[in-house]
Amino acid sequence: MEYVTLGRTGLRVSVAGLGCGGFSRLGLGSGRSEAEAVGLIRQALDLGVNLFDTAAAYGTEALLGKALKAVPRDQVVIATKAPFSVSNPNSSAASAVASLDNSLRQLATDIIDIYQLHGVAPGAYEHARSVIAPALLKEKAKGKFRHLAITETAPHDPEHKMLQLAVPDGAWDVAMVGFHMMHQNARDGVFPLARQHRVGTLLMFAVRNIFSRSGQLAATMRELAAAGQVPQWLAETPDPLGFLIHEGGARSVIDAAYRFVRHEPGVDVVLFGTGDPDHLRTNIASLLAPPLPEADRARLASLFGHLVGIGLDAPHLTRRSRT
Ligand SMILES: NC(=O)c1ccc[n+]([C@@H]2O[C@H](COP(=O)([O-])OP(=O)(O)OC[C@H]3O[C@@H](n4cnc5c(N)ncnc54)[C@H](OP(=O)(O)O)[C@@H]3O)[C@@H](O)[C@H]2O)c1
Repeated sequence: MEYVTLGRTGLRVSVAGLGCGGFSRLGLGSGRSEAEAVGLIRQALDLGVNLFDTAAAYGTEALLGKALKAVPRDQVVIATKAPFSVSNPNSSAASAVASLDNSLRQLATDIIDIYQLHGVAPGAYEHARSVIAPALLKEKAKGKFRHLAITETAPHDPEHKMLQLAVPDGAWDVAMVGFHMMHQNARDGVFPLARQHRVGTLLMFAVRNIFSRSGQLAATMRELAAAGQVPQWLAETPDPLGFLIHEGGARSVIDAAYRFVRHEPGVDVVLFGTGDPDHLRTNIASLLAPPLPEADRARLASLFGHLVGIGLDAPHLTRRSRT
């Protein structure tokens, strides 16, 4: 494993962070058992992963706490989140504090390393900053968490407007941002700011569904070609990213997707979500592999660098597992 310093937090974190939400929810989302999910977390630990990202909304905090019980607390970085979804933009400070207390109980720990407001939309930022953050910082002063952080709601904020307010603001030590091969605008819109202000970054959406579900990429290319946003040849091939897979290049589209985000300047930790032990192993190998060849990166930038908000599956607001 490789480790980096997470911005001004000073935390030393693995470049690969295990996401305990997303569509997989450690496998619970695809019908795997809690025992298998605990096994997956332990496998990640064995491979050197020391950062784990969960949320009150994911229903995986207790399981994460159980899997980490035998690990010395200073050997892992636990990130979790207070609910702050687009469906609840004016949630009260009291409910955020109650959620923090509940997360501490669920995780069976005395202190959370990174405490995030979950999915803050641009229009809710002012409320988050002036009402919720001060209340949470009082809890921080009591020793309940180490660093305050914020996550964007990628499907509702594809231009990163919220993070453009939050990153320079000084209140948030870590920001979670969406970026992938067909949604590259954080390169100009977020990462330079994060580096300037030494805000640590956790990367989400590297693969999601667009690069992992059969047929979804080709269907997206057909839509984009019809709208004149990508060349027609991309709509006519079943394997639009086949050009990335060659000797000296990527092994697969998913390998390419993780390697693409991992080496972007300004990205500290790439979160990956899986319930599958084989995927866990190969994803970590991808994240530790060299950057994609320069010619392939240049082609990804020229073909897709102008796209905004592609492949950011809209969360199903009625289902808590989807963000
Ligand atoms: N606003 C927010 O706060 C927010 C929003 C989104 C995500 N997140 C965080 O980011 C984490 C990562 O989420 P993500 O969805 O962005 O993760 P991701 O790694 O981009 O995508 C995970 C999806 O790809 C599949 N997959 C992963 N590796 C694979 C492989 N090698 N081969 C085939 N399929 C593979 C997984 O299914 P399998 O289970 O089959 O591997 C899963 O469906 C989440 O768990 C969460 O912690 C936060």
